[in-house]
Amino acid sequence: MAKNKTIFVCNECGYESAKWLGKCPACNSWNTFFEQKIIENKNSYLKQENKKTNTPQKLNSYEAKKTLRTSTGFEELDRVLGGGLVKGSLILLGGEPGIGKSTLILQICDKIKGEGKVLYVSGEESAEQIKLRADRLKIENEDILFLGETDIDIVNQAILDINPKLVIIDSIQTMYSEELSAAAGSVSQVREITSQIMRICKSREITTIIIGHVTKDGNIAGPRVLEHMVDTVLYLEGERYFSYRILRGVKNRFGSTNEIGMFEMKEEGMTEILNPSDILISEREDNPAGSCIVACMEGTRPILVELQALTTREHIWFPKKNSKWSRL
Ligand SMILES: Nc1ncnc2c1ncn2[C@@H]1O[C@H](COP(=O)(O)OP(=O)(O)O)[C@@H](O)[C@H]1O
Ligand SMILES: [Mg+2]
Repeated sequence: MAKNKTIFVCNECGYESAKWLGKCPACNSWNTFFEQKIIENKNSYLKQENKKTNTPQKLNSYEAKKTLRTSTGFEELDRVLGGGLVKGSLILLGGEPGIGKSTLILQICDKIKGEGKVLYVSGEESAEQIKLRADRLKIENEDILFLGETDIDIVNQAILDINPKLVIIDSIQTMYSEELSAAAGSVSQVREITSQIMRICKSREITTIIIGHVTKDGNIAGPRVLEHMVDTVLYLEGERYFSYRILRGVKNRFGSTNEIGMFEMKEEGMTEILNPSDILISEREDNPAGSCIVACMEGTRPILVELQALTTREHIWFPKKNSKWSRL
């Protein structure tokens, strides 16, 4: 018999309480508690799938499978991922709205042409909008299937029916599950949807990329509720009004997190910058005063950057240094 229980969850940090609270004791936010129904013993196919009998076995009796990786077609991205997309892995790509997440992902969908079907689920943009972008980026992969949907049950069913090689969820904040009363984008929705997608995709070894917008304080969906659930967390960073973008690995179960990838946003999409030193020191004049070139390591790659000491000419013969302001 299904038993319904109600709890209250803080939308900011995911703190759970049996009763409604005005102020969250964990993160001190006000009016962030939403009612959430927990349906126990729900008879969904997800639960049935996990009901297989499972007993502990000797670790030595297992054979380690070689991690199967697929190149994304971008050397910069492959290096950040630790050598390409790992089969069956769950990747979270975060970044501010408009930074180029959808563009980069659509280009990856094209570059893995011939590897199998790709299911692109968008809750943000219509098929026409995605097609416009695809035409601009000259996307040629015939195996990209588009689903404009926000209901996770329909998305799950589509994944089961199509059994694609790669699933894109753009973005996690727009998806919702009818089982929860909280609004789309809330901590409980984002957490529930990610765990549903994870169960389906892990059991079928489908690689999944979830796109998440970062909030003003830099977190995905408020707290970092998703980071511990997924295998890899990548952030796409950059100044909105400059064309350069940095892709940074924050967590990676299959590789190092020290690597960065550099891209430039152009009319034809994201193009990788294989030699960042070139652009980082390109505007330097010939031997200017107070400037030198420094080599620093970013992961496995040395990058040359310009280090500047900001100095100004002093007209008083004895310069004085103050605590609030200083003259050199
Ligand atoms: N024709 C174009 N030429 C160059 N850049 C463009 C063009 N159209 C859109 N963009 C860039 O693409 C960005 C939107 O990228 P998008 O992938 O939708 O971002 P996100 O998915 O992170 O919100 C815009 O901010 C703009 O900088
Ligand atoms: Mg987008």
